[in-house]
Amino acid sequence: MSRPTIADLRARTDLGEQLALLTAYDSAFARLAESAGIDLLLVGDSVGPTMLGLPSAIPVTMDDMLHHTRAVVRATERAHVICDLPFMAYHCSEDEAVRNAGRALQEAGAQSVKFEGGARWVPFVQRCVDAGIPVMGHLGPRGGQSSLTHGITTDRAMAHATRQLVDDATTLEGTGVWALLLERLPQEIAQAITAAVRIPTIGIGSGPHCRGQAQVMHDVLGLVGNTRPPHAVRYAELGETVREAFATFATDAKAGRLHERLE
Ligand code: KIV
Repeated sequence: MSRPTIADLRARTDLGEQLALLTAYDSAFARLAESAGIDLLLVGDSVGPTMLGLPSAIPVTMDDMLHHTRAVVRATERAHVICDLPFMAYHCSEDEAVRNAGRALQEAGAQSVKFEGGARWVPFVQRCVDAGIPVMGHLGPRGGQSSLTHGITTDRAMAHATRQLVDDATTLEGTGVWALLLERLPQEIAQAITAAVRIPTIGIGSGPHCRGQAQVMHDVLGLVGNTRPPHAVRYAELGETVREAFATFATDAKAGRLHERLE
């Protein structure tokens, strides 16, 4: 079985199917996610805080992203793998941006790249599309829209934010972005964007009206302690299960009775 192309994914959402996107950063969990039926695996720049012990995604480099994307691609064959372009991968020059996007496909085997931001990135998206690089957009506080969406208290502010974000979304769709990740947008805005575009909209913390839903793997699995964001849905408490397994092993090893478990 081959990986779905962006046309396959679009055809599925056109028929009303909802897509499931999960972040993935390594082979073992990517394989499990694919076998569980996850459609889209996003190697997110959240690899910084989740896997690399970094305080945020800011220090994550393009080389980090390629390294983790390769691991996810190697372990899977049916999922559509998206490589997040990290901070500074597309901010300095268009040439460098397109080259970095191309590296995600050529050197890591990703099917798409994702970038954060609105219509001001049209020239970069256009160059990627011209080069045949599928691009997912990402609208939300991290994409420079925080001043628009932060603490909307009046109808006027809501109307302004909605107009601006719908404009960004339709402009990006017009340039050839194949899908949009909508992160932590008020659900009215995510609904308005979804109604205004035909491409898949994948929401994370943006309400039920998108054409798919996303979660960060470590939140879903309960691997992040008590610091999960409000939109995170926890389906397991693996952190506690893993800690207990490690503690039992440590006790066995220190007591010299590990071999008893083999018998
Ligand atoms: O990097 C990431 O984890 C993201 C999330 C919003 C899905 O982009």
